[in-house]
Amino acid sequence: MGTSISESRQTAAYPLLKGQKALVTGANSGIGKATAIGLGKVGADVVVNYVSDRESAEAVVREIESFGVRAYAHEADVSQENQVAEMISRMVDEFGTIDVLVANAGLQRDAAATDMTLAQWQKVLDVNLTGQFLCAREAAKEFLRRGVVPEVSKSAGKIICMSSVHQIIPWAGHVNYAASKGGVLMMMQTLAQEFAPHKIRVNAVAPGAIRTPINRDAWDSPAAEADLLRLIPYRRVGDPEDIATAVAALASDLFDYVVGATLYVDGGMTLFPGFATGG
Ligand code: BGC
Repeated sequence: MGTSISESRQTAAYPLLKGQKALVTGANSGIGKATAIGLGKVGADVVVNYVSDRESAEAVVREIESFGVRAYAHEADVSQENQVAEMISRMVDEFGTIDVLVANAGLQRDAAATDMTLAQWQKVLDVNLTGQFLCAREAAKEFLRRGVVPEVSKSAGKIICMSSVHQIIPWAGHVNYAASKGGVLMMMQTLAQEFAPHKIRVNAVAPGAIRTPINRDAWDSPAAEADLLRLIPYRRVGDPEDIATAVAALASDLFDYVVGATLYVDGGMTLFPGFATGG
């Protein structure tokens, strides 16, 4: 006989991430902010990374602390190797270790391909792809050093890459962004393959259209929102909290056997909505 539901509930760790130490990059706005707050709500101590606007990061810290867990803000540009190394080493000093990395920091610099400057191309690749790699590499070193601590988690560490539906949906006018997220998909799967034998789980969350500052033009007028909803079978623009809950679940031991997966949180945007009536 298998374990009954009540037995497994007794052994599951609630709150979900109690005692775990999480770093969320780009955590002072949008999806990163909601995720940092969401992880605090389920028991994690949280480092709130930001690159500018310290006040907004401090506000996120205060909100997380209201749940009775620890938090602090840390300024670092994720595309800078030394700043990333410094951020993780301070986290080990302050919190003792890192259990969960949410590599979230990302940006858009949109332009038609023929107008796109090398600087626009490079900036997006640097932050969205190289930044995730640097954070994953530094976090993994600490996971490997520490290994599994069974009282805390079944795995030695969790890396969650913030990807996008554009890791598989081509996006005219955004070639730098789509290329960066396509890169995140293969980086995530490769790191998952490489680290899994060490009990490190690497996965991705791929949001669709979420109401945040990055895509304000796509939802902040009724006409724009109506246009956007044609791409979303579930007919709702996502909220940052939709992503936060997915990240918390994926980071928890409830998802311990999920390795190298992408969880699309997109109201069905990746379901080829144009084919609902055509084809
Ligand atoms: C982009 C948003 C866009 C969404 C759906 C996200 O990754 O950052 O600007 O609205 O994908 O297209």
